[in-house]
Amino acid sequence: MCGVVAVIGKAEASSLVIEGLKKLEYRGYDSAGIASLDKKKLQVLKSEGKLTNLVNQFDLLISKKSYNDTEIAIGHTRWATHGNVSIENAHPLTSDNKVAVVHNGIIENYASLKKTLISEGYVFSSVTDTEVIPHLFTKYIKQGNDFLESGKLVLKVIKGAFAFIAISVDFPDQLFVSRNSSPIAIGIGDKCNFIGSDAQSIAHLTKRIIYLEDGDYALVKNETLDIFDAQSNIVDRQIIHVNSDIGLINKGGYKHFMKKEMFEQPSIIPQTIGSLFNEDQSININLDKLGFTNKSSLTICAAGTSFYAALIGKYWIEQIADIPVLVDLASEYRYRKPSVFGQTSILVISQSGESLDTLMALRYGKELGLTTTAIVNVTGSTIDREADYSLHTKAGPEIAVASTKSFTSQLIVLFLIAVSLGKKFNNIDANKVNKIKQYLNMLPLALANMLKLEDQIIALSQQIKNSKSVIFLGRGYMYPLALEAALKLKEISYIHAEGFAAGEMKHGPIALIEDGLPVIMFIISDGYEDKSISNLQEAHSRGAKVIVIGDEACLKKASFAEIKIKIPDIDDEFKSLLSPILMAIPAQLLAYHVSRERGTDIDQPRNLAKSVTVE
Ligand code: M6R
Repeated sequence: MCGVVAVIGKAEASSLVIEGLKKLEYRGYDSAGIASLDKKKLQVLKSEGKLTNLVNQFDLLISKKSYNDTEIAIGHTRWATHGNVSIENAHPLTSDNKVAVVHNGIIENYASLKKTLISEGYVFSSVTDTEVIPHLFTKYIKQGNDFLESGKLVLKVIKGAFAFIAISVDFPDQLFVSRNSSPIAIGIGDKCNFIGSDAQSIAHLTKRIIYLEDGDYALVKNETLDIFDAQSNIVDRQIIHVNSDIGLINKGGYKHFMKKEMFEQPSIIPQTIGSLFNEDQSININLDKLGFTNKSSLTICAAGTSFYAALIGKYWIEQIADIPVLVDLASEYRYRKPSVFGQTSILVISQSGESLDTLMALRYGKELGLTTTAIVNVTGSTIDREADYSLHTKAGPEIAVASTKSFTSQLIVLFLIAVSLGKKFNNIDANKVNKIKQYLNMLPLALANMLKLEDQIIALSQQIKNSKSVIFLGRGYMYPLALEAALKLKEISYIHAEGFAAGEMKHGPIALIEDGLPVIMFIISDGYEDKSISNLQEAHSRGAKVIVIGDEACLKKASFAEIKIKIPDIDDEFKSLLSPILMAIPAQLLAYHVSRERGTDIDQPRNLAKSVTVE
């Protein structure tokens, strides 16, 4: 998703902005640009595609002394929403060669504003929604307003979700920044200040960070920072000291972040587990804060992979705690009238803590009078800050667009919520809880063993890399996992993939089966395996290339399968209860290796963003 960075008061600001943009690359983008002020002149550079194109252009101009790297600059990575990928639509967008703006989000009423501005003589050079902002600044500055006042007037007329930064040749020592739903962090330096879409993008410049709250705007100079709330009251926002290693992100010797993150799972999962147990071995989840002083039902909202984690959480919470769970896509929840009858709480799940759909679902839940809890990976993110109660996954920074370690970490939290609720409402006894703790202790080794399936998965990847379409089937816990496996494969390999509940095939999707279509089933002996294998048989009879990834007993039963991958031997109950976490590994490995075989951009797949801050 779009990322913004700005520097004021520090030499070579443009170079520092580019460094910041590099740290935002993981969010996904398709063009980039910078603007800076050189005395009374606006310098703007933009490029399509990867940041290296911008860097090459910048280096060339610097070597020719055609670009002056001054003390004030803004920068942007653009993920196209309004208008195709082009230099014209790349940010910064300018007006009159005097004002430049970088923006993350969407200006919803841009069409009417644009119409008025055109009638007033403003000429638009892009088809973006953003371009209205610099023109509005020019209009208000021409009317005699200073930069702060002009920014306030701009905020009065624009509607939508946005974070933007503006500079103007008329106010060469000032940055105007504003936040409404899209995240913004301001870094405090020594006689200099920094702005970024997240703390990570400016952590190489300062460790002292302020997160703007919704509706806040600020005038930033070298030595001063004036922050105003939505009612234009001057406000103090808390300075947070971010970890010194937040900016140190590398691939640790792996070719891709995704691979590193998959292989980190055995070592990071214990961190999430550890954080959810107290010293006396009781579970460190406050059920009162979660809204469960009494038994009631629960709604869980999320998007993408986090949504599939929610579906698995539903299965666990209903089985282990006998509590009804409703799972909703965050983007749907807020636009319908959900019944909250018998409910006290809503749980949202988000790796980034910034997905706008999920944030809006959380806010809507609050409006409906529900207690809000968030499972988030990024501490200090908007969702983390706005939830009444947060449970953190301790997965560490996840850079690859495809969620892997954050998914399995979310599952750990959901599983322990289920156990905790089951215990509180006497649905499981102490023996069972002790057994579960043993299983959790066994999990890291089991995950490490699952990763050893890699060579077999590579061989499988070579078999399906040229397929036009792939179907994943699953029953019970393996159904949401089939959905997740399909999402993972489609988002990074660009192969069309769908997940279905095994029993649902005969109600329609079986019409898709044709000779050679790969149909992949994750399966373990859970008491329902015979039913699932019958469904697989139906696909086999119609010519599908049947692939089974499962335990030995299931593979024997599915002897007709063309490719069989046996998972390591594990205790039956453990395997059955924690199967979604275990089977996530071959699902992730498969998506990774098919994509590697196809040569796609694994860490930053086309059209996708890591942090989806638009609706
Ligand atoms: O940061 P979030 O967990 O809120 O993100 C939700 C989805 O955008 C995310 O899971 C997305 O589906 C991933 N690319 C999946 O790998």
